[in-house]
Amino acid sequence: MTYRFKHGATADNLNLLLSTLERLHHIKDLHSLLDSILQESRSFTQADAGSIYLRNGLTLRFSYVQNDTLFRNDLLCNKYIYSNQEIDIDEKSLAGWVAKTGTPLVIDDVYEIPPGAPYTFNRSFDEISTYRTKSILVVPLKSSLEEVVGVIQLINALDGEGKPIPFTEEMTLFIAQFAFHAAVAIERALTLRDQVLRIVKLSELRDPEETAAHVYRVSSCATEIYLSWAERHSVPRAESDKMKDMLRIASMLHDAGKVGIPDSILRKKGKLTPEEFEVIKQHPVFGAKLFENANSEWERLAWEIMLNHHEHWDGNGYPGKEGGVGKKGNEIPLSARIVAVADVYDALINKRVYKDAWEEEKVFHYLRQEAGKHLDPELVAIFFDIHPVIRAIQDKWQAEGTA
Ligand code: C2E
Ligand code: SIN
Ligand code: SIN
Ligand code: FE
Ligand code: FE
Repeated sequence: MTYRFKHGATADNLNLLLSTLERLHHIKDLHSLLDSILQESRSFTQADAGSIYLRNGLTLRFSYVQNDTLFRNDLLCNKYIYSNQEIDIDEKSLAGWVAKTGTPLVIDDVYEIPPGAPYTFNRSFDEISTYRTKSILVVPLKSSLEEVVGVIQLINALDGEGKPIPFTEEMTLFIAQFAFHAAVAIERALTLRDQVLRIVKLSELRDPEETAAHVYRVSSCATEIYLSWAERHSVPRAESDKMKDMLRIASMLHDAGKVGIPDSILRKKGKLTPEEFEVIKQHPVFGAKLFENANSEWERLAWEIMLNHHEHWDGNGYPGKEGGVGKKGNEIPLSARIVAVADVYDALINKRVYKDAWEEEKVFHYLRQEAGKHLDPELVAIFFDIHPVIRAIQDKWQAEGTA
């Protein structure tokens, strides 16, 4: 690898890049990876904002966004990362042009693009917010196969006083090199996600009409609840980043043990008999068996969630400790207590084969009522605190929607 900077590659630059790449390669989950990629590429360039689009067939799907000026450090702003915007891969937009041509684009002021250019800057975001985009750097995420998996768009490089300045050629080269490694890491994360989804499909979503939407929703809600919990408990950022990454992927598997439940029970249109419910109650144990020989940390977390996600805070859940006595309160791992909140909410607010969707008010009332009984009361309080984010997650992954 060579890093040809305008003023020559310094050892510092190289070390920075290498240590960053080392970190990227430890991230398992796609979403956490996009978060890191954007964070790192923004810090290299002092960019105020940025977003990542991932390729989805012939379109680019808006997949991640950060904006220091608009979002600051408010977790509620996480709702913006669950947007569903898509743009065509053609020469009309900046990101589309870069995805189509596979070439970086540097523009000093997006409001001064010469009339002859094939692309135009989409001002809608600036118009609905108070933000003023000026300089922009858009780089393709190209993997070893020369295939564009997406684009990184960085906005407003800032000088020492926080004023937007143009992105330099040196930055462009650096980010292009970084983007190559980022693309490889993204492909790896996509592969792991595909494998996890394959297990999910086998186990829970045997109905072809059912998409991966439910697991994305539960996983995203669980992650957001965790992030807020971690903030309240002053968990160091490095630790919460790592947990967030593992939790997103592990919680997708919470019901993998349903693979052992016959369709006649799982897909029964009506209410289960007590005997049938006894069979259902095996699914946490089946799931834990699948991951008994976990040899990585995220797999151990998946094991823990599968086994414990139906324990109740008051000790009336299942499968319980040896002898069948339910685990209680903090005996239940935090990960499983979080997934329980996300799972119950998602089961109620959406339609299931065995029940209609409940009205939101009824769901809220139920969750409040179950705080301290079925569910950890602190986590229910957090759920209500971050409710705008939870709703954005529901909107992104409707039952019949995109996965
Ligand atoms: P699930 O559909 O993912 O539901 C997860 C949890 O959400 C349930 O765990 C329960 O705590 C809550 N929940 C879901 N629907 C309702 C509801 O209508 N009323 C109330 N009060 N709570 C609800 P639970 O009960 O341990 O069930 C575990 C799994 O067993 C469910 O996962 C579902 O796959 C299956 N199941 C439960 N009840 C029925 C049923 O009556 N018919 C069918 N076909 N399956 C059921
Ligand atoms: C995510 O990891 O949830 C973002 C990518 C997507 O929209 O599928
Ligand atoms: C689930 O979403 O938990 C199972 C599928 C269904 O009940 O429709
Ligand atoms: Fe379950
Ligand atoms: Fe579930």
